[in-house]
Amino acid sequence: MTQRILVLPGDGIGPEITRQARRVLEACREAGLDIEIEEAPVGGAEIDRSGVPLAPETLEKARASDAILLGAVGGPKWDTMPDIANRPEKGLLALRKELNLFGNLRPALLYPQLVEASSLKPEVVSGLDIMIVRELTGGIYFGQPRGRETREDGTRYGYNTYIYDEHEIRRIGRVAFEMAQKRNKKLCSVDKANVLEVTILWRDIMNELAPEYPDVELSHMYVDNAAMQLVRAPKQFDVIVTGNMFGDILSDAAAMLTGSIGMLPSASLNESGQGMFEPCHGSAPDIAGQGLANPLATILSVAMMLRYSLDAPALADRIERAVGSVLDQNLRTADIAYEGTRQVTTEEMGDAVVSAFLQQ
Ligand code: NAI
Ligand code: MG
Repeated sequence: MTQRILVLPGDGIGPEITRQARRVLEACREAGLDIEIEEAPVGGAEIDRSGVPLAPETLEKARASDAILLGAVGGPKWDTMPDIANRPEKGLLALRKELNLFGNLRPALLYPQLVEASSLKPEVVSGLDIMIVRELTGGIYFGQPRGRETREDGTRYGYNTYIYDEHEIRRIGRVAFEMAQKRNKKLCSVDKANVLEVTILWRDIMNELAPEYPDVELSHMYVDNAAMQLVRAPKQFDVIVTGNMFGDILSDAAAMLTGSIGMLPSASLNESGQGMFEPCHGSAPDIAGQGLANPLATILSVAMMLRYSLDAPALADRIERAVGSVLDQNLRTADIAYEGTRQVTTEEMGDAVVSAFLQQ
């Protein structure tokens, strides 16, 4: 059966990087993958067109698709919008929430060819391969009540609610345990159970799940220590599972261990296996339109799409090998270039990946 893919390029470098990733998808179609690709605006681009960051018809297309490829949204042009509820980023949050994409997979993988691009010493990071499983549709980013108010004496205050119920914790826990089973059988759950009640519950649920996965070794760590350990000795981790906010912060830190945020893909999945796939970085307005953007994070997001939503792991492996091969050829976009490498544009990088893919 033909699988439907919706491409949402978004803003800034979004259109440039998704163009290259789309070419890789089209190469997969030539290789026999039965897919149909459609494109729609989202974020600032959609605000400019219709006034809202996510049009109802785009949401409908998203619901009807098997997988979504997103570039990035946002930029200075929309940062001054007074109506925070209607900013570009809200389009993304709405998609995650509406499609119930609660399981966010963020790998931090250091390619051997890029060891010198990392800010850490080679012996600390070489061979690094971590998978962060972050809960994406709950926790403090969505908890109610929330708000900003002013007391009678004129003091302003703000508040958010950090809330998880056991079902939300259990379903992300299962994603993480299953991921650990497929990898090195080590799962570290990150919380702040010494201070926050909600994360005491988090820890309890992870412990309750553990007997169902006897081959996985479960450990727990407080988030502040986890941040420290990630930069001290990152290779101690295999799979990390954590809530929305801690996962947001830790995954960005882990991302930088690998040298460039321009290399890191992500997947956000729901219970039926439908997913949204996007690079970890944003719309990079500082380099938009100059051919400087690294398209590899988005291309590697296509590989995750093939693996997790389209049931085509062999093609996913083939894309990842193609990326390894262009790095072996010493081709680098500006963010990962250093002496002795050959700097290429966004499009040249796309060309190189497509031809390495087709040559296999
Ligand atoms: P950013 O990730 O867009 O950029 C941070 C730095 O990394 C910049 O110097 C940028 O040039 C560089 N960079 C990012 N992606 C790159 C790539 N593929 N190749 C080479 N260099 C790359 O984060 P920033 O600057 O904080 O945010 C810019 C805009 O993006 C904001 O409007 C923000 O709200 C939005 N944003 C959107 C996200 C999304 O759509 N998922 C996620 C994060 C930020
Ligand atoms: Mg973030």
